[in-house]
Amino acid sequence: MKQQVTRHPIALVILHWLLAALLLLALGMGTFVLKEIPNTSLEKLGALRGHMIIGFAIGGLMLLRLLVRLRTPGPAPAPTGNQALNLLGKAAHFGLYALVFAMAASGMATALQAGLPEIVFGGSGAVLPESFAIYAPRLVHGWIAKLLVLLVGLHVLGVVYHQLFLKDGLLSRMTWGK
Ligand code: HEM
Repeated sequence: MKQQVTRHPIALVILHWLLAALLLLALGMGTFVLKEIPNTSLEKLGALRGHMIIGFAIGGLMLLRLLVRLRTPGPAPAPTGNQALNLLGKAAHFGLYALVFAMAASGMATALQAGLPEIVFGGSGAVLPESFAIYAPRLVHGWIAKLLVLLVGLHVLGVVYHQLFLKDGLLSRMTWGK
């Protein structure tokens, strides 16, 4: 008889928590630090370098996560007892993948339009544009950041609902050990 899988594979668990930490870092630093430093400041290049490396890593790790998710068996979706909530959970998980990929893509498009790879990593000596707001992908990057914060909030609320109201121990599926 085929054994029922009750938790996510360890690779997915590690990627889940690593990505959660990196995303919080990129969202927090992007909003409260990077955006606040004027492009004329000497600190800007270092902040952009850090943000671009983290953002790039997030895009790559998310792709790896998607491949692991598609190729390894995981537990069946946790039921809530309500059809609409089950659908909302599925849509939120799909939305998280879509928004993170869109975030990485719009960040890279902004960087390419502004010639950042040469300025930030190549030491070309060229100056940064006065503002990135003149680039359409930069505006999209800002809107998606807000949507992503809302969706991460909804995701956490969903876990709290399972854990505290349904008391189905959902969180243990995304951990290791017993
Ligand atoms: C994938 C995860 C990423 C997250 C979560 C993220 C997050 C953010 C946030 C929150 C902001 C400020 C947006 C605002 O409030 O208007 C921002 C700005 C920015 N990000 Fe990202 N980012 C990511 C990836 C990238 C990548 C891969 C690049 C480039 C290779 C990039 C380049 C930029 C640039 C150039 C800015 C503008 C900074 C400014 O206006 O001074 N981001 N990012």
